[in-house]
Amino acid sequence: MIDAVETRSPAEAETHSIQSDHRALGAAAERLELLLGACAEGGAAASSEVRVLLEEFRRLLEAHLSAEERSGVLKRAAVAEPRFARRIVQLMREHYELRRRVGALAAGPQGESWVGFRARFIEFRGVLDLHEQAENDILQRTYFEDLGGRG
Ligand SMILES: [Fe+2]
Repeated sequence: MIDAVETRSPAEAETHSIQSDHRALGAAAERLELLLGACAEGGAAASSEVRVLLEEFRRLLEAHLSAEERSGVLKRAAVAEPRFARRIVQLMREHYELRRRVGALAAGPQGESWVGFRARFIEFRGVLDLHEQAENDILQRTYFEDLGGRG
């Protein structure tokens, strides 16, 4: 009998880690959106809890963006698949804007109602989802479909 052997390449392992982060961020954003709904309906308890979760979400996203940049897996995908290179450069630039926006959100409502703040959060969530989906697609196509796991 053959023992189970780790056959994933480093790029595959990094891709799985990034995709796992994306799912965790999506779940955290979902919880926040629900809680912001309670805030918008006047829940005082929800409004104190949401400030803690907003900061946690900011830290989670910051750690994720930094890990992605450090790993270099997307930059290597740009070398392996030059057709994605331009999009990858754009995605890396978007990290700056994502950091700025999540930092502003973590400060909580700024002279706006919870309804307005919730709308701002939902808009950010949409932008983040598109960004993460684009990364997932590129990683999937680079390391799992076209090249059969090269990395
Ligand atoms: Fe990401």
